Formats: sequence, structure tokens, C-alpha cells
Amino acid sequence: MKNMLVTGGCGFIGSNFIRYLLEETNYPGRVANVDQLTYAGNPENLSGIEKGSSGRYVFIKADICDQEIMAQIFDDYEIDSICHFAAESHVDRSIVSPDAFIQTNIVGTFNLLELARTHQERLQRFHHISTDEVFGSLGKEGFFTEETRYQPNSPYSASKAGSDHLVRAYHQTYGLPITISNCSNNYGPYQFPEKLIPLVILNAFEGKPLPVYGDGRHVRDWLYVRDHCTGIWTIMRHGKRGETYNIGGNNEMENITVVEMICDILDELHTGAENRSRRELITFVKDRPGHDRRYAIDSTKLRQELSWRPEESFESGLRKTIEWYLGHQAWVDRVKSGEYQSWIKEHYG
Ligand code: NAD
Ligand code: TYD
Repeated sequence: MKNMLVTGGCGFIGSNFIRYLLEETNYPGRVANVDQLTYAGNPENLSGIEKGSSGRYVFIKADICDQEIMAQIFDDYEIDSICHFAAESHVDRSIVSPDAFIQTNIVGTFNLLELARTHQERLQRFHHISTDEVFGSLGKEGFFTEETRYQPNSPYSASKAGSDHLVRAYHQTYGLPITISNCSNNYGPYQFPEKLIPLVILNAFEGKPLPVYGDGRHVRDWLYVRDHCTGIWTIMRHGKRGETYNIGGNNEMENITVVEMICDILDELHTGAENRSRRELITFVKDRPGHDRRYAIDSTKLRQELSWRPEESFESGLRKTIEWYLGHQAWVDRVKSGEYQSWIKEHYG
């Protein structure tokens, strides 16, 4: 792999992956980051990367659904590998307006697969990033394995399931050198503050209500974003073509516990003037429709076959994440005020 196309590299996980790849691994090649810069894409997530990577990084603002532009990019940058993050990623948005999820997640993935198929002679790897949400909801017991049947419950997870099936089919039918990873909920630096953890950190910091859906007993299995990145890179290099790998941090947690932990760490750091516990800000709100009760990942295959291990416990990762948000107030202000969007308009039209 010498010329990697990364899609959605200005989003949360994609930007962490590009930083990891170019700053921490010995990957010798180039990265072409294609991102449409939706509300979730922020070039500031990769500030400094161009200078630091001596010509090995290029950014192109484009829509993965645009066949012509994507074909041009494949040729211009002689793409030989793809790490595909670009997606609409927020469940609540998919409930209100699913259209963009179908377009980007299904049609966009199909478009990339077609391009990969027509450039198959030089294609080393098409790695597709997916989610454990395609498996639906677990009861109190059990874990998702690579064999669990798909049963998506939200427009988001259904669109990701559709894209997973297409990627798999392109291996079976055309022999495309694909791998897929299905991971659990990520958290860490640069996550857009609409998702639970950054939303709660920033609201708690500012003394605002902390919305907890339903009874707060829904369970998510948290994965620190850098651990996700090491898993992806492991799979891209050593994963078997045509295979799927689950990536999880073994950190099952009820939402209410996550929110309370954030409150307690912030109280301990004494940021903010009040003497009240931030737990008092917790506000139970109406549940999400079709809200999956429990996710839990069994990542034995990745651990045993490719010797991958996560480095962070939930406590250590959460502390790092909180410290990151507190230490990046300017980023937070620009994201929350929408100033980053004005910057994008000014620079990219
Ligand atoms: P994100 O919403 O932070 O970033 C998505 C990026 O894709 C943004 O930069 C956005 O501008 C870009 N994008 C959207 N539509 C595009 C299009 N049509 N063309 C080009 N770029 C486009 O998402 P994330 O949290 O970084 O998730 C990345 C991937 O990981 C997604 O495929 C998601 O389904 C998957 N995933 C995320 C999580 C999680 O907890 N965040 C968990 C499991 C899987
Ligand atoms: P989220 O971060 O949106 O990720 P996902 O829906 O992909 O799992 O939500 C994580 C969990 O937190 C989920 O069970 C919904 C819940 N949640 C809240 O209770 N309050 C909130 O404000 C948000 C955004 C999520």
C-alpha cells in the first residue's frame, strides 16, 4: 500500500486514523483524504498534518457519491488501497432525516466499490469501517461475534448493514480484496459534540442539563478511538481478504454510569465554580424510538488471529478524553459556535 484513499478523514475517527497512520506508524506511503465536509467534517481536526508529513498528505473536498470526481481522484493519486470511513454516523439524525444516510452510506459505498473494481489490478486492500449496530440489540447475556446475524434497527444501522453486504458481495463476486471491521462505540479527541460522551463533557463543564434517554440503563461497549485505529491498521496489513473482524474494548457500561463518571471526574478536576455535584445536572428525557438496549462485542478473532490488544481501560480513556476537551477550548468554541463552518465556506466555497 503506497497510495491510500481515506474517505471521511476530517471526521472523528478518520482524523484520528490519519494522525495515527502518518505520525505513529512506519507507513511509508501517501494519504489522499476525501471528505465532503458535512457538519461532521472539520479540517481543523487535522491541523498541522500537512507540514508534519512532508508531502505525504493531501486533502480533497469531494462527495464520495460523485462518480466523475472520485474516478479522477483514483487516477490522479494512483490509489492502491482504501480505508473507508465516510458516512452519516448519528442515529438520532437518521431517525429525523434518513435520506443522506441512504445516499452516503449505501450509494457512496457502492460508488467506491465500482471504482475499486475497475482499478482492481492495482488494488491491494479495500477496508470498510462498520459498526456493531448492524447486529441489532442484545438481551442481558451474550456478545456479538462475526457470526451474529444482521438485524439493524435504525435507519443508520440499516444503511451500514446495506453497505457491509455490498462490500462482502464484491469480494464474493469479483474477488475484490476487502476486509470489514465492526466496532463498538468510539470515544476520544475530536468527536463531534452530538454524541453522548462529548455532549455530556461539554454540558457538564458549562453547568447545563445532561440529557439521558429513557431509564439510562442502555448498555454500550466503549472503545477508545486510538485503540480502534490500531485495530484498523492491524487488519489492513494482516487481515485475511474477504474477512470481517469485530473490534471492541471490553468496556460495557450503562449510559447512566458513563454520565456519572464524567460528572465525578469533572468535579474532581474542580473545573467550574459551583460546589454542587454535577450529577445534579442529570435529566432523564424521552427515550429514542427503536433504542437498542445493549451492545457488547466479542473481539476474540482479532485478538487471537492478529494479536491485537486495546491499550486503554474505560477509566483511563475517559480521563484522557475529558482532559483533551478541557485543553482544547478554542476547538470546542469554533465547533459549538459553527465558526468552523464559516471557515469551510470561506476556503472551499
Ligand atoms: P463522523 O460523523 O465524525 O465523520 C464522518 C465524516 O464523513 C465527516 O468528516 C463527513 O464530512 C464525511 N462525509 C459524510 N458524507 C460524506 C460524503 N458523501 N462524501 C465524503 N465525505 C463524507 O463519523 P465517525 O464517528 O468518525 O465515524 C466514521 C466511521 O466509523 C463511519 O463509517 C461510522 O459508521 C463508523 N463507526 C463509528 C462509530 C462511532 O462510535 N463513532 C462506531 C462504529 C462505527
Ligand atoms: P450515541 O453517542 O448517540 O451513540 P449510538 O446511538 O450510536 O450508540 O449514544 C450512546 C448512548 O447514549 C445511546 O444509548 C443513546 C444515549 N444517549 C443519551 O442518553 N443522551 C444523549 O444526549 C445522547 C446523544 C445519547
